[in-house]
Amino acid sequence: MTDVDYNFTGKVAFVTGATSGIGRATALAFARAGARVVVADINADGIEETARRIEQNGGTALPIRCDVTDEDDVRAALDQTIQTFGRLDVAFNNAGIEQPVAPLADISVDDWDRILAVDLRGVFLCMKHQIPLMSEHGGSIVNTSSGAGVKGFRGQSAYAAAKHGIIGLTKSAALDYAATGIRINAICPGIIDTEMMDRFSGGTPEGRQQVIDQEPIGRMGTPDEIAGTVLWLCSDPAAFIIGHALVVDGGQTT
Ligand code: NAI
Repeated sequence: MTDVDYNFTGKVAFVTGATSGIGRATALAFARAGARVVVADINADGIEETARRIEQNGGTALPIRCDVTDEDDVRAALDQTIQTFGRLDVAFNNAGIEQPVAPLADISVDDWDRILAVDLRGVFLCMKHQIPLMSEHGGSIVNTSSGAGVKGFRGQSAYAAAKHGIIGLTKSAALDYAATGIRINAICPGIIDTEMMDRFSGGTPEGRQQVIDQEPIGRMGTPDEIAGTVLWLCSDPAAFIIGHALVVDGGQTT
């Protein structure tokens, strides 16, 4: 895919879930567009690999191990961002985990707590500590929701609750800060070809075809297609977009 020529030179982008799939593609895309990129993830080996790929392409990366469910980790990661780069302009709160397919009564309380902790609490904690760092000069935040943030999916009630929650969180926070120059939006990807989708589909040709069958476009989306949309949402041409949940899904939820 060819990049649109965005210019984030001088900006600092903080990306969570940056060692895999959508997050890694977006971290690399921000770096190609000139941003210095904080690569934040719970996966300690993965952050080094994403940072290595950024630096191999001539970019600047700061890998930080961070569990987004842990407030101390999130605060420390953002402190380190400011200590290293002096500012924060863009945040992509994207870390997430999937739900084992199960009807509601079969979801264990542990699974519910784990999914809500990573997928919803993590986004809250990140925004809570990012927003004050943007208050002087403004900034842009994009949170990763899902098609499961705009419609129900059988067997996915915990995941869908978290992803619907992200949209409520995003819209309300967007109103809190609209007048301050901080834009907050969400993105709702469809079926994207990542490690998460491989785990979900089983990664077999039949499993992959079953999820592709949900896609009117007839294929999965690529992580780069989501990355491109995130960069656009964070760019100046999107300056009037506030509190929007942008569906990028090949028609899946249409
Ligand atoms: P992935 O599994 O490939 O990547 C998820 C990343 O989040 C990994 O790098 C993982 O280490 C990180 N992570 C997990 N728990 C964490 C924690 N507690 N703290 C910090 N990092 C943590 O998944 P993928 O597909 O790239 O998904 C990214 C986001 O997009 C997720 O929020 C997911 O729910 C969402 N999404 C994905 C879709 C898809 O079809 N792949 C569709 C719609 C939404």
